[in-house]
Amino acid sequence: MNNKTFAIIKPDAIKNNYTGLIFDRILKNGFSVLSAKLLKMTKKQAMGFYFIHRNKPFYDELTTFMSSGPCMVLALEKENAVENWRKIIGSTNPEEAKDGTIRKDFANSLSENAVHGSDSDENAEKEIAFFFSNSEVIGNQ
Ligand code: CMP
Repeated sequence: MNNKTFAIIKPDAIKNNYTGLIFDRILKNGFSVLSAKLLKMTKKQAMGFYFIHRNKPFYDELTTFMSSGPCMVLALEKENAVENWRKIIGSTNPEEAKDGTIRKDFANSLSENAVHGSDSDENAEKEIAFFFSNSEVIGNQ
């Protein structure tokens, strides 16, 4: 069954002009793009999005970075979308990411790690709803 995941092409990847190359991986790996937006998060928005990490020591660094420049937010669809997207992006730490993964090829560090991916179907729905209204997502019309 097809389901959804939520992805972000993060500010480092946009700045390094990897947007097209990452988009190519999304499409070549069989994901359908249900919605996409280029935006610059405010610090407050980044803090809201990553609220789950509010007690982590890297929360301030992460939210400052995520609001430092434009990023692209995406709603993606595929069979086992959450698991498949996480496989393609690789480990959170690019130094541990396998060859051929997006983070191995395009990420700089643990905090500037090129892309985000939801960790569960439930969080994917929440994260999509954080950035997109219902009618902005293909299939909901
Ligand atoms: P992401 O998939 O966007 O989800 C949470 C983010 O926190 C993660 O990617 C990393 O970019 C970031 N992160 C996780 N652990 C650390 C850490 N130890 N130091 C800095 N950033 C981190």
